[in-house]
Amino acid sequence: MISRSTIDRVFETARVEEVIGEFVQLKKAGSNFKGLSPFVDEKSPSFMVSPVKQIWKDFSTGKGGNAISFLMEHEHYSYPEAIKWLAKKYNIEIEETEQTSEEKAQINERESMFLVSSFARDYFHNTMLNSNLGKAIGLSYFKERGFTDETIKKFDLGYCIDEWDNFTKAALDKGYDLKYLASTGLTIVKENKQFDRFKGRVMFPIHSMSGRILGFGGRILTADKKAAKYLNSPESDIYHKSKILYGIYQAKKEIAKQDNCFLVEGYTDVISFNQSGVENVVASSGTALTSDQIRLVNRLTKNITVLFDGDAAGIRASIRGIDLILEQGMNVKVVQFPDGEDPDSFAKAHSNAELKEYLENSAQDFINFKVSLLLKDSNNDPIKKASVIRDIVTSISKIPDSIQREVYIQECSRIMEISERVLFSELAQLLKKNIQEKSKKASRKQSAPQQDPNEPPPEYFMQQESAQMGLVKGGLVSTEKIDELSKYEKEIIKNLILYGNEEVEFTEDVIDIDENGKESIVIKKYQNLVSTEIYLHLQDDEIEFSNPVFQELYSTIIHQLNQLEKLHINDLVNHSNPEVRDIITSVLMDEEDPNMRLSDWEGQNIFVTNALEVLFKAIPDVIFNLRRVLIDRKIQELMKEATENSAINIDLETIRNYTNLKMRLFDKLNRVV
Ligand code: CTP
Ligand code: MN
Repeated sequence: MISRSTIDRVFETARVEEVIGEFVQLKKAGSNFKGLSPFVDEKSPSFMVSPVKQIWKDFSTGKGGNAISFLMEHEHYSYPEAIKWLAKKYNIEIEETEQTSEEKAQINERESMFLVSSFARDYFHNTMLNSNLGKAIGLSYFKERGFTDETIKKFDLGYCIDEWDNFTKAALDKGYDLKYLASTGLTIVKENKQFDRFKGRVMFPIHSMSGRILGFGGRILTADKKAAKYLNSPESDIYHKSKILYGIYQAKKEIAKQDNCFLVEGYTDVISFNQSGVENVVASSGTALTSDQIRLVNRLTKNITVLFDGDAAGIRASIRGIDLILEQGMNVKVVQFPDGEDPDSFAKAHSNAELKEYLENSAQDFINFKVSLLLKDSNNDPIKKASVIRDIVTSISKIPDSIQREVYIQECSRIMEISERVLFSELAQLLKKNIQEKSKKASRKQSAPQQDPNEPPPEYFMQQESAQMGLVKGGLVSTEKIDELSKYEKEIIKNLILYGNEEVEFTEDVIDIDENGKESIVIKKYQNLVSTEIYLHLQDDEIEFSNPVFQELYSTIIHQLNQLEKLHINDLVNHSNPEVRDIITSVLMDEEDPNMRLSDWEGQNIFVTNALEVLFKAIPDVIFNLRRVLIDRKIQELMKEATENSAINIDLETIRNYTNLKMRLFDKLNRVV
């Protein structure tokens, strides 16, 4: 594990403008830098970097953060990978925390396996490009398949010479340990004899998301019916077949950019698509799709398009796996290729434009595709049809979003000519079963191992589900009220971020009673941090933010105040939840340059003059306003309840209390001048 002090040094040293400058062309713009967004295609720059605040903000996507989060967003690094990248760039020595000797041995073991694998990649690649046998056999095979030099380079393709131990000998000569040659499966060791697993095959190295070599696929070149066409690395500490997707390293950027991932079956499908200009493509390498593989894609996009070969048997076998994609809340489309064609052959036989056009025009929603496919099979046989219905509703029940489920049920009812009522009751039963299964799994999971402290918390990669939640939990409120509520919540958050550490003299009206029992209002003055003042007020009224991201940000701020007695903006910019970071960078960037208000963060112009001078009034104002809206809401709810209960149990008393409270608030609002 990387030590805390190394991480701190990396944070102190790294300059966001230097890091981003390696990926994005930046131009000076006032005190900031400006560039084209690396996340979408755009013509006018909306990407800003602030060297002063050490943050970046992409106004076209709303993303923002610090140097670390840029590497995680842009290069799709994990947190430790980002730290390591920065340490290397700034020549900071990485100090690992104490590990048990067992842990050390295991890490060394894996590292050694990675080392020997990357040697193998280079060796196979160079052998193919430079040796006579390599050129005559391996290279000419790929050339015959139409792969260009550029493609061969991009995928590190190679060749393992058809001798018993050509590769193994070279590796041993270079000082690699036979132990790791054996544990990676590159060398097969039998009774003191060693030979190359992949002898005579062309080699497809398999990369991790960040480009490390996990294993290999090797394709035979002869028509030997007995030998497997493709041979893969055996399962090992670094190669887990169920957790890899071929091509993910080469595809990750394009997947994020296109916001879609094409899923194919084989190595050559991936490579041919790349050569045809479709780069957002990965392969499950001929095995059934797993949840772990889908999760890899889910880090990059919510949309998958599954590509099927022409043959129908294959399709029926693979549509089962697609429920796993739906389960992760992703949108699935399918494209079917003409009979006898696979993505590789289709890409070869058509121009780039034709391929793209075909992908676009024949993509079909998965559920619709499944319905029509299965209905064709059932031939109107009622028993078969019943099982088709169950099958389809099972798929629909995997979709986490209830509105989406409902739309599909309606759609299926129409296509299958079954009443919605029947489908909904089937769905209800399945949902109940799913929930039971989930809670069973959850109770088993509780004993699962703890999270690695070197990783950011898991919510880092969680897609922005909370953003889809309504702004207000429960309660029927007019849109106007929602907007008002969110306006004041935003304002409070903004004040916390920008002025949380400002010390301000606030005033409070207190009722003073003199000896004669005469009441008078006295204005009391006191000093407080803006953040403390806000905290005390909200706590008094037990107010929570209706927007879950605000609430999370607020909780973090309060935690800081309790622990450190001050707000630490840098830690907030480094927050594990990207949505929280996006809000903070929005506020900070807006403040930096009020004329550059490109974001949808509705800047309240009240702070453009001298914000600090009016804080003593602005803070209580916004809190009172928030309370007013919340009270209004409460009254509305009570009234609504009253009308629904046909006026039998009207809680007039409570309504009156709230109304009085509101009056008093208005009073107070008017008084604070
Ligand atoms: N595969 C495998 N082992 C096999 C056969 C296939 O791992 N014995 C995997 C490979 O990832 C392969 C994919 O399944 O790419 C699809 O198999 P297939 O369609 O037979 O191969 P193609 O990709 O079409 O390969 P080629 O065009 O070279 O024949
Ligand atoms: Mn093929």
